[in-house]
Amino acid sequence: MSKCCGPKAKGCCGPKKDPHEFVEEYYGKILSSSKDLKTNACCAAGRPHPRLAKLMSEVPAEILAKFYGCGAPLPLGIEGKRVLDLGSGSGRDCYVAAALVGESGHVTGIDMTDEQLGVARSHLEAYTGALGYSAPNMKFVKGHIEFLEDAGVEGESVDVVISNCVVNLSPDKPRVLREVYRALAPGGEFYFSDVYCDRRLPEGVRKDKILWGECLAGALYYKDFERMARETGFGDPRVLSTSRITVQNAELENLVGEAKFYSITYRLFKIPNKIETTEEDYGQIAVYKGTIEGHEHAYKLDDRYRFETGKPMAVSGNVAAMVGEDGISWLSPHFQVIGERSVHYGVFGGGRIATSFDPAPSASATGASCC
Ligand SMILES: C[S@@+](CC[C@H](N)C(=O)[O-])C[C@H]1O[C@@H](n2cnc3c(N)ncnc32)[C@H](O)[C@@H]1O
Repeated sequence: MSKCCGPKAKGCCGPKKDPHEFVEEYYGKILSSSKDLKTNACCAAGRPHPRLAKLMSEVPAEILAKFYGCGAPLPLGIEGKRVLDLGSGSGRDCYVAAALVGESGHVTGIDMTDEQLGVARSHLEAYTGALGYSAPNMKFVKGHIEFLEDAGVEGESVDVVISNCVVNLSPDKPRVLREVYRALAPGGEFYFSDVYCDRRLPEGVRKDKILWGECLAGALYYKDFERMARETGFGDPRVLSTSRITVQNAELENLVGEAKFYSITYRLFKIPNKIETTEEDYGQIAVYKGTIEGHEHAYKLDDRYRFETGKPMAVSGNVAAMVGEDGISWLSPHFQVIGERSVHYGVFGGGRIATSFDPAPSASATGASCC
């Protein structure tokens, strides 16, 4: 029996059989490659940034064949950072992150499935050599994402937590969020992609094992997730990108009915006492310095804020905190924030809608995805 149904558990079990056991079986034994999936979730994210696409193409083929993610939650500009990947699977995102953080950074992947961990570990040495590092800067640990402490993750020990299509599989999502919040250092961020739904799914759908394994039955109504994130302390969850997932199986499609599924990449910043649950105006201005490699001309914070390099933008107190007010956020070296909070001007009504001309042809065009 998994820990979630053990003595530490508090009403966290969903479907009849322990969902941890079924998920482990699904990813360890039932699926042998992403071709066995019944949805287009792992093709949904669109084309990754060219730098990421190049690094993905350098990840060993066996790892890519067992990629079951629904996005590319890999922020640029994380040199020297400590990264934790929840549900790292065969390791694609850890391998890319290991290149992004460089030799002075570190990446830890946590997964509960031995088969997935085995694949991730088997290419570690050769890849470390290919990167030109003298020692591996990543490790893969067996554990449950609901119990990061048991897996050796100390409080405030991580700068960026990433995750790709995993949180939906957890039978205790509030606990996962609390663990992420505990693990993050102040100014750190949970930057992750997962499957969400446009409504609360009926019990019959939530109990279907295949739909659970396929990352659909456990998908939260996105408004419920955002409320949960606020309750955990991530006061102002931000959406970076959204793409539709389709169920490519008539039987399963019939089961889910009118429910629509999306792969969403969220950004949740941990900035205690600064991020409020509403956007307030303190007359602050932020300027992006153009210093993140790969984002020299502009930086997209989320689906609303796109900072052109050098151009001052009016920001809410929340955004000022996310991009560097007081130097707490991991993004702070890359932004200048002008103004503090001595005067409150009411509800924030400014900000520029991000006009996204990011082309998003099929990920297969890069040769780096599972499609
Ligand atoms: C859909 S796959 C995604 C894997 C990987 N992130 C990727 O993008 O290829 C889900 C992975 O999460 C792991 N997993 C699911 N629930 C977990 C939990 N509660 N604790 C630890 N690992 C979990 C599974 O073993 C599986 O490897």
